[in-house]
Amino acid sequence: MKTYKIAAIPADGIGPEVIAAGVQALEALAKRDGSFRLEFTHFDWGSERYKREGALMPEDGTETLKAFDAIFFGAVGAPDVPDHLTLWGLRLPICQGFDQYANVRPTRILPGIQAPLANVGPGDLDWVIVRENSEGEYAGMGGRAHRGLPEEVGTEVAVFTRVGVTRIMRYAFQLAQSRPRKLLTVVTKSNAQRHGMVMWDEIAEEVSNDFPDVTWDKMLVDAMTVRMVKSPQSLDTIVATNLHADILSDLAGALAGSLGVAPTANIDPERRYPSMFEPIHGSAFDITGKGIANPVATFWTAAQMLEHIGEANAAQRLMRAVEKVCADGVMTPDVGGDANTQDVTDAICDAIRGDN
Ligand code: NAI
Ligand code: MG
Repeated sequence: MKTYKIAAIPADGIGPEVIAAGVQALEALAKRDGSFRLEFTHFDWGSERYKREGALMPEDGTETLKAFDAIFFGAVGAPDVPDHLTLWGLRLPICQGFDQYANVRPTRILPGIQAPLANVGPGDLDWVIVRENSEGEYAGMGGRAHRGLPEEVGTEVAVFTRVGVTRIMRYAFQLAQSRPRKLLTVVTKSNAQRHGMVMWDEIAEEVSNDFPDVTWDKMLVDAMTVRMVKSPQSLDTIVATNLHADILSDLAGALAGSLGVAPTANIDPERRYPSMFEPIHGSAFDITGKGIANPVATFWTAAQMLEHIGEANAAQRLMRAVEKVCADGVMTPDVGGDANTQDVTDAICDAIRGDN
């Protein structure tokens, strides 16, 4: 029997709550399928470890993770630790260390979920946002000088490389090509940012020549927010920089009903390293410990993980279960239901067992 080694890093806030739910669903799937096993190793990395030992993960943390087929990640961030420390102390070292340059964020309105836009329901909003995940505005370049003095300066330098832009553009065109509508929108801000962003546009043009069957267009990021709200039906696959796609995908999650249903996959398309799968949301201190975190984003990213490791049937079974349970109205309060995390998880596991 095939066995996949999964590193589970629940980390902070509701992370442990949704990862526990995800592990239950994945175990039910492996049992239902019968042809593969999932072997989970749990790591207690995160803000508690930082407070205890001064680092969110051990120095050889990424080295340890190399032995796994995939990483199943919760959320990192605590009210009493600065956010830039938690992000740069755990999540970004994994994404960047493993060159997970494609961040893939599917969004669609699930049946039974009341989305906030009038007259927009399931089928009207079905997108995949591809976020460049290795450079751009989050390359970590920049610095501060004259700290605390009146003349203090801080710079945040966006870095765009031909290699980095070309590979994400190819990934996005390929993904668009694999979807029924073969439609791609390339987002930039190449009117105001006239160097790196103009290079994006030029590289999009070049790469598009290899994908004659993909219809594509360009949008400026500010106009893109309007289009997402006013004509969600006109979009399908979207590619944007690290920062722009970060923001657009939160908007996408909200337009689909809740951040609690939005998943993300940090992929190394060349499979040199394990890829990492996580819900888009953060550690949500406001609801931590209440047992009401929506586990759907975590189920969805678990489906992305199964697909990536080569268990597409199980991935589809999981998404069928998610759609059934949402349509049946078993939902957490963030999407208008009155079920808790465990109720939704039990319903998902039942649906998996009952799926044929
Ligand atoms: P957040 O995503 O944690 O929460 C935003 C709002 O959405 C809150 O009202 C929360 O209750 C709600 N929400 C989020 N996930 C939900 C779920 N599964 N079910 C129901 N409601 C849900 O974002 P926020 O408040 O900006 O950040 C909190 C912490 O999380 C910060 O420390 C931040 O740095 C960190 N963060 C970590 C991320 C990661 O690990 N990938 C991503 C985003 C934020
Ligand atoms: Mg974000």
